[in-house]
Amino acid sequence: MLDQYERKIEYVRISLTDRCNLRCRYCMPEEGVTKLCHADILNFAEILRVVRGLAALGVKKVRLTGGEPLVRRGITDLIRQIRQVPGIEQVVLTTNGVLLPEMGADLLQAGLTGLNISLDTLRPETFAQITRRPLFERVQAGLEQMLSLGMTDIKFNCVPIYEVNDEEIPALAALAKDYSVKVRFIELMPIGCAYEVGYEGVPMDEVRARLTKAYGSLHPVGRKIDRLQGPAEYYKVPGFKGQVGFIDAMEHKFCATCNRVRLTAEGFLKLCLNQKTGLDLRALLRNGISDENLKLALRQAIYRKPAEHLFTDRENTARDSRAMYQVGG
Ligand code: 5AD
Ligand code: SF4
Repeated sequence: MLDQYERKIEYVRISLTDRCNLRCRYCMPEEGVTKLCHADILNFAEILRVVRGLAALGVKKVRLTGGEPLVRRGITDLIRQIRQVPGIEQVVLTTNGVLLPEMGADLLQAGLTGLNISLDTLRPETFAQITRRPLFERVQAGLEQMLSLGMTDIKFNCVPIYEVNDEEIPALAALAKDYSVKVRFIELMPIGCAYEVGYEGVPMDEVRARLTKAYGSLHPVGRKIDRLQGPAEYYKVPGFKGQVGFIDAMEHKFCATCNRVRLTAEGFLKLCLNQKTGLDLRALLRNGISDENLKLALRQAIYRKPAEHLFTDRENTARDSRAMYQVGG
């Protein structure tokens, strides 16, 4: 369906939990977060009703996120069921990769079509510093596992931060040299603990400049290849098997081509990454709304999707205070 600005909404990101087995400094405090209790979060039957409603309105792609989605019990069954919803073409996952060594094979078997792995460093010590957990080797094993199982659609998300991992920008990009994967650099956004911990994100223009210096010219890849694609701009680098991409959250807004809505673990339909506006679907579902009225409510809410995020408007009261682990990126 089209929203009020005639953007085609085809993609939903579903946060399955606010819990996580890492504590990335820009995302969560060391002590973790006040966890939602089981009754607060949507159960799988409720999630499936929402997915069916959205699919009836034209949504074709579902991304499962968190927190860390692999810590939600039963996720492989959920993937299997979402794959069966008429209209859904892609079911993908954003994960920190820690649980991939044991779960990867089941996820593929359940019908997972793509995988985004959050990886900000290739150095075990830096990994432990950023995530506060010494688990780099598990992520590495998870990646090797997925590649050996023949998973083709793998993307890495890297958030470059000055004096933390900025020296590694060329090495991270080189994952796309050795493997047929996409490495996406994401600008640190003013969400979660990003500013409190004193992290300063490297702007994407600088990331591009450093890569050009290391590898020569970057050649833009046409945008229209996959209409379900996210906000990254992709480039080919001479001699690379894969591609590198950039998400310029702050400098160049991606809002005009936004194709997505988000569902929080508590069942709130979010219409924009950092705006409060949306719809409490959990209340509707638990008050016995019919499928027909659910579809209507979804349609009306999505139509009102706001024009753009408010990252650079720090005083605006429409801004949402939810952190990334509550929204799922
Ligand atoms: N800015 C940018 N990216 C963030 N992520 C988490 N918090 C932030 C932030 N403040 C990233 C994670 C993960 C993705 C889901 O979001 O690194 O790759
Ligand atoms: Fe967990 Fe992702 Fe947040 Fe890191 S960024 S603490 S992996 S939810």
